[in-house]
Amino acid sequence: MSTKVTKIAVMTSGGDSPGMNAAVRAVVRACVFNNIECMGVLRGYQGLIDNDLIPLDSRSVRNTISRGGTFLQTARSKEFRTPEGREKAYANFKANGLNALIVIGGDGSFTGGMIFNKEFKVPVIGIPGTIDNDIYGTQFTLGYDTALNTVVEAIDKIRDTASSHNRLFFVEVMGRDAGFIALNAGIGAGAEEILIPEENLGIERLVESLENSKKSGKTSSIVVVAEGDKTGKGVFELKDYVEKNMPEYDVRVSVLGHMQRGGSPSCFDRVLAGRLGVKAVDLLMGGQSNLMVGINNNEITAINLEKAVKLHHDINMDLLRVADILSI
Ligand code: F6P
Repeated sequence: MSTKVTKIAVMTSGGDSPGMNAAVRAVVRACVFNNIECMGVLRGYQGLIDNDLIPLDSRSVRNTISRGGTFLQTARSKEFRTPEGREKAYANFKANGLNALIVIGGDGSFTGGMIFNKEFKVPVIGIPGTIDNDIYGTQFTLGYDTALNTVVEAIDKIRDTASSHNRLFFVEVMGRDAGFIALNAGIGAGAEEILIPEENLGIERLVESLENSKKSGKTSSIVVVAEGDKTGKGVFELKDYVEKNMPEYDVRVSVLGHMQRGGSPSCFDRVLAGRLGVKAVDLLMGGQSNLMVGINNNEITAINLEKAVKLHHDINMDLLRVADILSI
């Protein structure tokens, strides 16, 4: 099935990430370049159900490349999970004369796109946008690089005060199911230990490592902990345990939270957004659908959406060994 694409809808869905605006801008400008009309859907799938769409042209995306968040706004729509919600969404989709959809988001958003495609034969392309970097089929998701830089900058600041007071800090970073942010930002910020969801370090090993740090002359330490880490039940429990078992340590906790999702996108994320947006429009023009665009070895690639949703983006566990060596 391949009807000529004349009018594309673009939306951002799920958790926002820096670079989403730059990706919308790229989609809009690629459409204008190819004489295709473009509409922005507000608040993800919910906007399609509520018929909340705006026409977008080259000028409507001016000065958006540097802005964090998403000017189209985003949501996790419960109604779109129901057949009635999707019927409404499709009725509006058709009434607006649209014939293809580009979804910028994570795996939940792609699952929505796949169902929409299956039920109504709407051509759909996904652009991976999440700070977690946990999507199969791309080495980097939009916003991940910016989030890493945000976290490293924050930890550098925490390090200043930690070393002034000879303190141990547990710094919690985002990542419920994936340790990409913790591991890479942890290495980048010179953390003494990094705790991730993919491996249970064991609290005894953590204590042993902290004892070794002390013995080797370290007076302050940073332990980076992903939200979903399995070693403890969170940073506050880790703090209590260490305080009880190592009274010589003055321990503090810092939860970085949603500041990791905001901010102006890095140059890497802006360029990535541009390349992925242009590719998404190219694929639709070539009659392709049900694909997610991504970047692998600096080439823009495309894989089946179903594969992107079902398969797991594995973390490079050798980085834990590197982190261990560097923190000696
Ligand atoms: O998936 C992106 C993410 O930022 C996760 O790292 C985090 O666990 C989650 O979203 C937070 O979600 P919410 O904004 O709904 O609290």
